[in-house]
Amino acid sequence: MDRFRITGGKPLEGTVRISGAKNAALPTMAAALLTAEPVHLKNIPRVRDIITMGQLIAHTNARVETPDVPPTDLTIEARNITDAEAPYELVRTMRASILMLGPLVARLGHARVSLPGGCAIGARPVDLHIKALEQMGAEISTEHGYVTAHVPGGRLHGAEIRFEKITVTGTENILMAASLAEGETHLESAAREPEVTDLIEVLIKMGARIEGAGTSTLVVRGVERLGGASHTIIPDRIEAGTFVVAGAISGGEIEVTNCKPEHIRAVLAKLCEMGVDIEAAGPDRLRVRGAKKLTAIHVTTEEYPGFATDMQAQVMALATQAQGSSEFVETIFENRYMHASEMTRMGADITIDGRKAVVRGPTPLEGTTVIASDLRASASLVLAGLIARGETIVDRVYHIDRGYERIEEKLSRLGARIERLR
Ligand code: UD1
Repeated sequence: MDRFRITGGKPLEGTVRISGAKNAALPTMAAALLTAEPVHLKNIPRVRDIITMGQLIAHTNARVETPDVPPTDLTIEARNITDAEAPYELVRTMRASILMLGPLVARLGHARVSLPGGCAIGARPVDLHIKALEQMGAEISTEHGYVTAHVPGGRLHGAEIRFEKITVTGTENILMAASLAEGETHLESAAREPEVTDLIEVLIKMGARIEGAGTSTLVVRGVERLGGASHTIIPDRIEAGTFVVAGAISGGEIEVTNCKPEHIRAVLAKLCEMGVDIEAAGPDRLRVRGAKKLTAIHVTTEEYPGFATDMQAQVMALATQAQGSSEFVETIFENRYMHASEMTRMGADITIDGRKAVVRGPTPLEGTTVIASDLRASASLVLAGLIARGETIVDRVYHIDRGYERIEEKLSRLGARIERLR
């Protein structure tokens, strides 16, 4: 199992280019299953979850073509899909595999998708996906760890759907299913994340009729057939946010390029409140300078456009260096503080009480061996390693490889002393 060895204490300098958004690329790849025509995608990030999604799609007998390996451009042609199954061996590492369900049911009238694994950050059920598809006419059972769906008559129909809780992949699944359903689907309390809006853009290019992009009320008028499309995936806002924190925590000065600052406005506002010097150096470029003195903050994670839960762990690493008591309230996932105990082992002062975490700082951090427990937790431990005294070993970096494109190479180019041990 790969590990990272980080020797802390080096201020970062230079420029880092942000890759395409994993969480936008995954649903867009799944959307290619809705049409027999080719879908060309650009700016695909070279991360493990994309490879898994490619394998899931190839398993249906769709053609997945990558001009370079690993890919940044990808063509998917689902001319003849013969297998409507997403098997456990592929699904177990990635919760987003549930995104196969909506497109397969809509296109073929049946599907069998293993219940997802992925990050261990709480129960993370898929009941809302299932309930909405049932409202659209699918008969669904869950047994032996699989969700099996069948549509009597073969075609889903429109429905009035109101999610009890805002769900990102749930919204995406239903958008894809509704695009090929008969009649109109009204979606209330839909997720407004930029990745959802990017998916809507692709679906519209494919011929879908969707109104309300960027709002929580979406109307989809189903069509009989969708066609091919070409699309460039939006930049990864969480990777961008992670590098902004890397610049800030190291006390250096870096430029983060090819990003969309408006997608992380809530995170940038909190970092500025802490004293990090961030300025726009162009429409898709941020300049970050670490502050001499950081002040404590209060963060409550929320759905977009609020503070992203996927940035909570990284900003907590920075909060260990802030003067005073910072408070974090995690409202999206119930078990998302696993990085805190590892940071405490490095010298941080963090107390967890249910969904609330209090970080008292500043505390010097010391290098030690830490274990990455999920994707964003791993990133936060790498950030902590950048300022820890001595050597930090981050174990189980396969979590980080799921969602960050060669983070150690990008950090090395900024001057960090980090290497991958195999
Ligand atoms: C997506 C992102 C993930 C991010 C999360 C929240 C992808 C591939 N992943 O995950 O990085 O952290 O949004 O922004 O885009 N829930 C239910 N029942 C359901 C579905 C969800 O109770 O059927 C709950 C979840 O347990 C969680 C909350 O709703 O508490 C939000 O989850 P959701 O938005 O669905 O997260 P994902 O789409 O899995």
